Amino acid sequence: MNIAVIGAGYVGTTTSVAFAEYGHKVIVVDHDLKKIEKLQQSILPFYEEGIEDLLKVLITKGNISFTENVNSAINQSDLLFITVGTPSLDDGVADISYVEEVARTIGQHMNDHKIIVIKSTVPIGTGDKVKDIINEELANRNKQIPFDVVSNPEFLREGKALHDARYPERIVIGCNSKKAEKEMKDLYKEVNAQLLITSVKDAEMIKYASNTFLATKISFINELARLCEKMGVDITNVAKGMGLDSRIGPQFLHAGIGYGGSCFPKDVKALKALSLQEKIPLHILEAVTHINDTQAEWFMQKVKNTLGDLSGKRIAILGLTFKPDTDDIREASSIKIIDFLIKNQAVISAYDPKGIEHVKKIFPSITYTSTPFEALQGADAIILVTEWKDIIEIDWKAAKNSMNQPFLFDGRNALNASRMVKLGYSYFGVGLPS
Ligand code: UGA
Repeated sequence: MNIAVIGAGYVGTTTSVAFAEYGHKVIVVDHDLKKIEKLQQSILPFYEEGIEDLLKVLITKGNISFTENVNSAINQSDLLFITVGTPSLDDGVADISYVEEVARTIGQHMNDHKIIVIKSTVPIGTGDKVKDIINEELANRNKQIPFDVVSNPEFLREGKALHDARYPERIVIGCNSKKAEKEMKDLYKEVNAQLLITSVKDAEMIKYASNTFLATKISFINELARLCEKMGVDITNVAKGMGLDSRIGPQFLHAGIGYGGSCFPKDVKALKALSLQEKIPLHILEAVTHINDTQAEWFMQKVKNTLGDLSGKRIAILGLTFKPDTDDIREASSIKIIDFLIKNQAVISAYDPKGIEHVKKIFPSITYTSTPFEALQGADAIILVTEWKDIIEIDWKAAKNSMNQPFLFDGRNALNASRMVKLGYSYFGVGLPS
C-alpha cells in the first residue's frame, strides 16, 4: 500500500519504519528540512534501539523515503497518517492545532479518495473536526472528493518501540465505513494481533483510557508504597501478591518515584480537562496527577531526613531519562530531584548513558560523568533514578568502597535490597520496611 505519514516525530518515524517493514511503501513528511535530511541518511532525531539500522535497510530497499513536499506525498498515497504532536495547553487541554493544520493541508491538496488516519493522541471528537476541516477546504476548491477519517491509536512504548511495532498485542481501528475498515485490515494483514473495530470516537477514548488507567495503576501502587513504608510492609511483596490475581495482573505495579515521559503526564491532564469541559469530572485523575507530582518530593524528603542538612553533601544521581533505553527526559523524575538538591545546595554529579545532553540544557552547572563510577566517587549518597541495565549491574562492592558514605537511595526498587545491606550499604527503596 502507498502510505504518507505526516509528522516525523517519535510516533511518525517509528510507525513509518514499522509499516515499511510490513512491506508497504511509505513517504514520511515533515516541514523541518534539517530533520528530513538527517532521516534520509538514517539519522534519527531521538534514540531508539534498532530503528536506525532497520531504517538503513528499508531506505536501500526503497520502502521508505522522506520529504518536505507534502503535496506530492499526499497525492502519491492512499492512506494519509497524521502523526503530529498534541502538546498540553496551560489548562491541560490537548492542543490539536497541528492536527487541524495537517487536515487543512490535506483538504487543500488531495485530488482523489483518501483514507485519513489519526495516530496522534487526540481528544474525543477530533476525528469529526478533521472531517469538517477537510470538507471546508474541499468546498473552498469547489471539489467533491470522497474520503474517510479513521482513528488508529498507537500503543508503542519508548525504548521498546520496534518490539511493540512488530508484535503488538492489539490494533484498534475506529472507522465509520466498510471501505476504510477493509483498507485498514489490509494494512495490518501481516501482523498477528487482536484487531478491534470500533467507532472513531470509541478508538479515540480507548487510547486515553489505556494510558490513564496505566498511570492510575502506578499512582495507586506509589501512594500505597508510602503507607507500606510507614507500616513496615514491603510493597514489592504486596505488588507480587496482587499481581498473581489475573484480574489485577503484575504489570505497572512497580512502585517508584513517579511516571514521566511525553505520554502519561500529558494524557492524564488532557482526559481530566476533557471531563471537566463535559462537566463529568474524572476525580480519580486528579488524585493520579497529585500523587505523581508529589512522589519524587516525598522520596527526597526521606533523603533529607536521613542525611540531614544536604548543603555541601556530594550526591551521585544515577539515571536521568524518564525510563531506561531512551534519551527522553520529558517529565523525568530526575529533573524534580536535581531541582530539590540544587535548592538544598548539594553537590551533584550525574550519570546517564543517553540523557546527559538534554539535562545539561536545564542544569548546566552540575557535574556530568561518562560512567556511573565517576559519578559516585567520593559521594555521600547515591540516588538511583533510572534503572538502566549498565547502572544496576555495576560492581556494587567496589562502588561502596569508593564512596565517602554508603547511602543508597533506590528510587526504582531496582536493586536487591538484602544484597545491598549485606554489602554494607544503608539502603532505602520505595515502600520497603526499614
Ligand atoms: C506509554 C504506554 O505504555 C504506551 O502503550 C503508549 O503508546 C505510550 O505511552 C504513548 O502514549 O505514546 P511510554 O511513555 O513510552 O509508553 O512508557 P511506559 O513504559 O509506559 O512508562 C511510563 C512511565 O511509567 C515511566 O516513567 C516508567 O518508569 C513508569 N512506570 C512504569 C512506573 O513507575 N512503574 C511501573 O510499574 C511501570
